[in-house]
Amino acid sequence: MVSTTDMLELLVVLLTMTGIVESVGNASHKLGTVFLITFGNGSNLDSNKTPSDFNFTTNHSQQHTDSIESGNFGFVNKIAKNRSSWHIGALDHTKDDDGGYMFLVDVGNESHQPLFNYKVDNLSRGVCYEFSAYITNVVKSGAKQAKSNVRLEIRETDKNDTLITQTSTGDLPECSNMSWSKYGISFVPTSTSAALLVVSNVYETMGNDLAIDDIELRVCSDSVDQCAEQDTQESTSMFLITFGEGSSTYSNKTPSDFNFTTNHTQNLSTPTEFGHFGLVNKVPGNVGTWHNDSLDHTVNDNGGYMFLVDVGEDIHQPLFSYKIINLCIGLCYEFSAYFANVVIAGRKYAKPDVRLEVRATKEDGNLIANRSTGDIPECNNMTWSKHSISFSPTSSLVVLLMLSNVNQQNGNDLAIDDIELRVCSRNHSGFCPPS
Ligand SMILES: *[C@@H]1O[C@H](CO)[C@@H](O)[C@H](O)[C@H]1NC(C)=O
Ligand SMILES: *[C@@H]1O[C@H](CO)[C@@H](O)[C@H](O)[C@H]1NC(C)=O
Ligand SMILES: *[C@@H]1O[C@H](CO)[C@@H](O)[C@H](O)[C@H]1NC(C)=O
Ligand SMILES: *[C@@H]1O[C@H](CO)[C@@H](O)[C@H](O)[C@H]1NC(C)=O
Ligand SMILES: *[C@@H]1O[C@H](CO)[C@@H](O)[C@H](O)[C@H]1NC(C)=O
Ligand SMILES: *[C@@H]1O[C@H](CO)[C@@H](O)[C@H](O)[C@H]1NC(C)=O
Ligand SMILES: *[C@@H]1O[C@H](CO)[C@@H](O)[C@H](O)[C@H]1NC(C)=O
Ligand SMILES: *[C@@H]1O[C@H](CO)[C@@H](O)[C@H](O)[C@H]1NC(C)=O
Ligand SMILES: *[C@@H]1O[C@H](CO)[C@@H](O)[C@H](O)[C@H]1NC(C)=O
Ligand SMILES: *[C@@H]1O[C@H](CO)[C@@H](O)[C@H](O)[C@H]1NC(C)=O
Ligand SMILES: *[C@@H]1O[C@H](CO)[C@@H](O)[C@H](O)[C@H]1NC(C)=O
Ligand SMILES: *[C@@H]1O[C@H](CO)[C@@H](O)[C@H](O)[C@H]1NC(C)=O
Repeated sequence: MVSTTDMLELLVVLLTMTGIVESVGNASHKLGTVFLITFGNGSNLDSNKTPSDFNFTTNHSQQHTDSIESGNFGFVNKIAKNRSSWHIGALDHTKDDDGGYMFLVDVGNESHQPLFNYKVDNLSRGVCYEFSAYITNVVKSGAKQAKSNVRLEIRETDKNDTLITQTSTGDLPECSNMSWSKYGISFVPTSTSAALLVVSNVYETMGNDLAIDDIELRVCSDSVDQCAEQDTQESTSMFLITFGEGSSTYSNKTPSDFNFTTNHTQNLSTPTEFGHFGLVNKVPGNVGTWHNDSLDHTVNDNGGYMFLVDVGEDIHQPLFSYKIINLCIGLCYEFSAYFANVVIAGRKYAKPDVRLEVRATKEDGNLIANRSTGDIPECNNMTWSKHSISFSPTSSLVVLLMLSNVNQQNGNDLAIDDIELRVCSRNHSGFCPPS
């Protein structure tokens, strides 16, 4: 058994590491990483490396000039093409490299699938992995061109490329500054080989331009921060709900203490009834199929609470609803939370799958952005993963929602923690009160 202290220490180490992913000479920073493609760095605008140098293939054509056109890509160290609609001068995502390259693609209107294809053949069966990348729209805010929207797919290559799981980024927002966001998908392979793919959902000529960086496969762990500027000191948190801490198993705080509402009913005992939740500081020990005694996600809290919910059927929507006012139109924000499947591995119960939605003005207002977690896998240990959605509000009042995509009773048990809204820009409070 891993003790609580060990797990907390692991979390602290992982969190400490997020800022120094590129520091060489510290072997521990590779903990859990199977591969990480940063595209390297250099002083020429355009790298002469090819996809095979990074062990992947693409069906787009590489362009070694500053003239990336429809269907082409380049590895560039800044957005230099004189297209008035692009973020000219914007840099890659990788921290602490000068002249770091990124994968810049003009996806275009024709099918050049896939954008990215990486075959791995040394996975461990039954272990939870996370495939992720930082992705951004290259087009400036206000251009109103076609927004790129890509899908991460995991296929089992020794089983006729059977799709195991997939997730889409949703439309990548046009931002006032180029804003990188991390998109990831967790999966538990049933064989040792898989293809990790990035595929476009959109075929358009005007716009549909994106950049990708820091493509990673790692053993599931605490995901790194996903917001554009990555480090907490560089992007501002507008709210963070950790659910507090305490010594009694069930917190008697209510959603209104945290400024949100839910259509689930709160319990002060094991929430094993459909549509019920509890704020617990460990998973109750009296449910045979749960990760008994597993803890919340928040680092450095003692007896930290999490939102534990038996989702059940559709009538208890939404899981979570939060109204926020005085946002800035055109800025980019990221709404995120950590999720874990509470059911132990091997049950093959219904897996939770949650949709994050951002709507203008009210709960049934115009949809600004939406994105699903995909099936949250059953793991050997209760494993938290961060899921987020980026958006650029069209209204200064928005509602942030979590809705279940799964309406089944067996399984569908979920824990949520550290729900956050961040502004993806340096030195900006994120609030624009009417003057
Ligand atoms: C998962 O839990 C088992 C027992 O519950 C423990 O032996 C194992 O070390 C844990 N693995 C990790 C990665 O924490
Ligand atoms: C390596 O990483 C660990 C954990 O973050 C840190 O404590 C240590 O100082 C680092 N060592 C070097 C040489 O950077
Ligand atoms: C790559 O980045 C490192 C770290 O910033 C820097 O020392 C090095 O000079 C860079 N290489 C080139 C060719 O720019
Ligand atoms: C590519 O694969 C080879 C062989 O598996 C490995 O040695 C090399 O480090 C990989 N390169 C990258 C950039 O991942
Ligand atoms: C791009 O535009 C800048 C200024 O607008 C100009 O100085 C530069 O020559 C242009 N570059 C190309 C390749 O057209
Ligand atoms: C893509 O756009 C080009 C230029 O507008 C056009 O010639 C071509 O037929 C289009 N292809 C498709 C599949 O629509
Ligand atoms: C790449 O795209 C072309 C044109 O659509 C298609 O004929 C070809 O089969 C594709 N290649 C791969 C590897 O998918
Ligand atoms: C798995 O393969 C990757 C390259 O595809 C390599 O970098 C990594 O070290 C391998 N891992 C193990 C445990 O062999
Ligand atoms: C493999 O997949 C292809 C495309 O989905 C399908 O046409 C074919 O019948 C499959 N083959 C087997 C053996 O399942
Ligand atoms: C709830 O909202 C009030 C008023 O906006 C604010 O003072 C308080 O800090 C918020 N509480 C939490 C937990 O976000
Ligand atoms: C939950 O949703 C149902 C159906 O939409 C609605 O009738 C009910 O009033 C809601 N309950 C709460 C507590 O919001
Ligand atoms: C956007 O970028 C410009 C220059 O790169 C910088 O001066 C400005 O502060 C940034 N704006 C925000 C909101 O981050």
